[in-house]
Amino acid sequence: MGSVVLDNLIKDFGETRVLKNINLDIKEGEFFALLGPSGCGKTTTMRCVAGFESPTEGIIKIGDKKVNKVDPHRRNCGMVFQSYALFPHMNVFDNVAYSLNVKELKKSGILKKVGIYTRMLNSKLVKYNDEMKKKVYDILEYVELTEHAHKLTSELSGGQQQRVALARSLVMEPDVLLMDEPLSNLDQKLRHTMRNTIRRIQQDLNITTIFVTHDQEEAMSMADRVAVMQAGEIVQVGTPTDLYSNPNSPYIADFVGTSNIIPGEVVHKGDSYSVIQFGEQKIESKKKPEKDSVQIIIRPENINILKENTPNLKNVFDGVVEVATYLGNTVRYEVKVENQILIVDQNYEAGEGILEEGSKVRLSISSERVLLL
Ligand SMILES: Nc1ncnc2c1ncn2[C@@H]1O[C@H](COP(=O)(O)OP(=O)(O)OP(=O)(O)O)[C@@H](O)[C@H]1O
Ligand SMILES: [Mg+2]
Repeated sequence: MGSVVLDNLIKDFGETRVLKNINLDIKEGEFFALLGPSGCGKTTTMRCVAGFESPTEGIIKIGDKKVNKVDPHRRNCGMVFQSYALFPHMNVFDNVAYSLNVKELKKSGILKKVGIYTRMLNSKLVKYNDEMKKKVYDILEYVELTEHAHKLTSELSGGQQQRVALARSLVMEPDVLLMDEPLSNLDQKLRHTMRNTIRRIQQDLNITTIFVTHDQEEAMSMADRVAVMQAGEIVQVGTPTDLYSNPNSPYIADFVGTSNIIPGEVVHKGDSYSVIQFGEQKIESKKKPEKDSVQIIIRPENINILKENTPNLKNVFDGVVEVATYLGNTVRYEVKVENQILIVDQNYEAGEGILEEGSKVRLSISSERVLLL
């Protein structure tokens, strides 16, 4: 029912190709994030699925059905926008009931007659029947808004407005829920709470969800799978842990979490390990490089600061702490090794000292944790 397939989707706006061969296979019930920087084509992709844009080429399927020529309101997609698009002159109940109302009006044919005034009038035109009322109150209870049902949406907090927008989509029982940066207007604490609320509802209802964001932490913490987009293309699709531990390009390594990315030259290519030179230093990796010039990728948490008197291991580098930043349960150090700054994250336990700027340190990196791209 609610799977979504995009097959070689291309979208041109005039001369500009904004989507270049997008292929995605989103499973029923999956929470799928589209992640990428501003302008990379996330909203356009979403609008093609919803039917507000028609692709220049390619096929869109919802369930087993090709929907390229199907009107938006027949695709059974619920949409939540960044700006919520609530009606400020209506109370919470009416905002949520609105879509159900329009459905009723469509059935009665009255919509055509009253045209653009429908939006203003519709809550007066149709009496809510008991079934509609129950549906709306059920969903309001679900998003914990029952006590606010008769407030105007302009009297609500950002998080409450966000939940009205969500309720308004869910009340239609869509096959697919499309959310375009729904949390970006909220402050950080509320974003975290809403992440959990959205995830809980999505799992409860098992509703196929496409979630657009440019916030990698949001995508990685919420989604079953993430597609990373860059300039109209999908550059990698995978589970959050896949993307984090096996990025297929330096772009992904940098976009998904923080990485140290160091250019180097392969000086030994063996069966079980290879050796890469950067500056005067040599580093061992368990990975087999495909090229002679590579990017060495190391996550900050995979670099250890050795205690004094630790016996010499492989992949040990002398450096000097340039910056130390206390981040709560970790300390982030910027350590200069030759001319290279390495970012090093160390767990911090209460009462421990933090290394001062200028401290000499020895860093060690397991060769398993040295990626080569
Ligand atoms: N209707 C349109 N006409 C012409 N160009 C458009 C139109 N809609 C989008 N674009 C262009 O297509 C590109 C992708 O836009 P889109 O809105 O999909 O990006 P996005 O990834 O959602 O970005 P953001 O994170 O800023 O919302 C942009 O360069 C944008 O200027
Ligand atoms: Mg957008």
